[in-house]
Amino acid sequence: MAKDKVVLAYSGGLDTSVCIKWLQLEKDLDVIAVVGEVGQEHEGLEEVKKRALQTGAIECIVADMRDVFADEYLTKALAANAQFENKYPLVSALSRPLISQYLVDTAHKFGAKYIAHGCTGKGNDQVRFETSIQALDPSIEIIAPVREWDLHTRDDEMDWAEKHGVPVPTTKSKPYSIDDNLWGRAIECGVLEDPMNRPPLDIYTMTTDPEKAPDEATEIEITFKEGVPCAIDGEEMSYLAIIEKMNQIAGSNGYGRIDMIENRMIGVKSRECYEAPGALALIEAHRALEDMCLEREVLRYKLHIEHDWATLVYNGQWFSPLKHAMDAFLSTTQKCLTGVVRIKFYKGSCTVTGRRSDFSLYDYGLATYDAADTFNRDAAKGFIDLYGLSNKVWAQNRRTQGVTDGPHVG
Ligand code: ARG
Repeated sequence: MAKDKVVLAYSGGLDTSVCIKWLQLEKDLDVIAVVGEVGQEHEGLEEVKKRALQTGAIECIVADMRDVFADEYLTKALAANAQFENKYPLVSALSRPLISQYLVDTAHKFGAKYIAHGCTGKGNDQVRFETSIQALDPSIEIIAPVREWDLHTRDDEMDWAEKHGVPVPTTKSKPYSIDDNLWGRAIECGVLEDPMNRPPLDIYTMTTDPEKAPDEATEIEITFKEGVPCAIDGEEMSYLAIIEKMNQIAGSNGYGRIDMIENRMIGVKSRECYEAPGALALIEAHRALEDMCLEREVLRYKLHIEHDWATLVYNGQWFSPLKHAMDAFLSTTQKCLTGVVRIKFYKGSCTVTGRRSDFSLYDYGLATYDAADTFNRDAAKGFIDLYGLSNKVWAQNRRTQGVTDGPHVG
C-alpha cells in the first residue's frame, strides 16, 4: 500500500535533515521537501535539494518565493511601518506565513495529509507555521518532530544522523541560530544569551561595522507610488530589486543593526540581534512621506493600527480576519502616497533630508512666518478659549471648593 505523504519545510541544515529520516522511520511517511528561496544567504539551493533527495525525500521542490514575498508581504509590512515592540521589523514573522502558503499548496498538489516543520517548542516560529497552516487548510495535520523527539543537543542529533545514514551538512556548525531573508537577518543564542555581552562583530553579514563605514555620506532619493517604492535616484526598479539595493546601500553605511530584549509569544524574554538595513531605511523614508501626505487624524489613528498590526503578525495571525481588515484600512491610506523622499546615510545613521509630493498637505502659506502668511491668527484666540474651556471650568470649581490636591492649585 502506498504510504501517506508529508510535506516538510526544509532548509538543508541538520535539524530538518534529521527530520526527513525521522519522518520516514518513526511515522512511516513519504517525505516531500520544500525549500524556499526568500532572499537568505545560502551556498546553492541545488545542493540543498540534492541533500534532501540523498537523505530519502521522494521529492524536493525549490521554490523562488522572492517576488511574492516582496509584492504580497513586504508591501503590507511597509504600509504598516511594521516594527514589533517599536524596533524589530518582523523579518522571520513575515516569511513564515509565506512559506506556509507554499507548504499547503504543495500538500494539495501531492495529496499529502501532513505538513511538518523543524521548529523547536520554545520559539515563535512553530506558532506562526501552525496558525498559518491551520488557517489555510484546517484539515491538514501538523507534525513537529523537534518537539517530539528525544534528541536534546546538537551532538545527540549528529549521533542519530550518523547512525541512520543522514548525510550531515558540511557547513561548520555555527554558534548562533540564524534566520534571514530579504527583509533582514535574525541572530540568536550562543554568547548573545547573556544580555550584557556585546554582540561579537562577526555576527553581522548584511551591515558594515558603523565605525568602519565610509567617511563620506551617501544620499539617495526614493520614489514611492501609492506607498510602494518604485525607483532609486529616478531609476525605476521592481520593489524586490529596490529592497536588495537598499540592503546594499544602507548596509555598507553601517545602518540597520538592532540589539534588543523581546517578548516571545510563549512568555519568555529573549535577547535578539538583528540587522535589517533595507527594511529600516525604507520604513524611515515611508514614514517621512506619510507625515506630509496623511491627514492628521488618519495619521494618528494609523499609528495605533501599525502597533496592533505588528503585534498580530509577530504572533502568527497573518491569515486572521482582523489582520485582513487592518490591511484594508492601511491600503486606503496608501492611495495618495506618491512622491519622493531623500535620505542620507552616514556611519550607521539614516536621516531624512527632504520630501516632496503632489499629494502633500504641507501648505507653505499656512506654515510660513514670512510675509506670505495666509494663516488667520485672529481665529487662534477663539479656538484656544473653547479648546481650554472644559479644563478652565474644572479648575475654577476646584478652587472655589478649596480642593488642594489637584494639579491646578498653586
Ligand atoms: N525572534 C525573532 C522572531 O521571533 C527571530 C526568530 C528567528 N528564528 C530563528 N530560527 N533564529 O521573529
